[in-house]
Amino acid sequence: MRILVLNGPNLNMLGIREPDIYGKATYDDLVSMITEHCAKKNIEVQCLQSNHEGTLVDYIQQAFFDKVDGIVINPGAYTHTSVALLDALKAVHIPTVEVHISAVNEREAFRQISYVSYYASKTIMGKGFDGYIEAIDFLAQA
Ligand code: DQA
Repeated sequence: MRILVLNGPNLNMLGIREPDIYGKATYDDLVSMITEHCAKKNIEVQCLQSNHEGTLVDYIQQAFFDKVDGIVINPGAYTHTSVALLDALKAVHIPTVEVHISAVNEREAFRQISYVSYYASKTIMGKGFDGYIEAIDFLAQA
């Protein structure tokens, strides 16, 4: 089982950005938590982050050639704007779970649209870093 965990813009700033919303733990803490969990479960995992939409598209396309079995994606703000990320996911047709650290459904009106959710099998929000673990376990069971 091979999983790609993809984080979009500003998620490298975890721990610094709006800690009241996203918490005090850092992106490195997130990667450590995911890596440890996957090691226990015998899941091969790659964690990638980019602030650039095109780079995220490239990572999704590469997942196809790398024969990735599942994608966990937190597209950050591109969630609400990016048809390109949606199209990339549809192109590679890899099972995908969308994760948001915050409870996006309880936030601003402009966060209420998610293009990625048109493709994702499941959306997990408002569970902090645990949402990534839940997403990985969901893909591993599928
Ligand atoms: C986010 C929610 C988005 O609305 C925001 O732009 C982010 C993070 C989350 O994890 O809660 O960057 O995806």
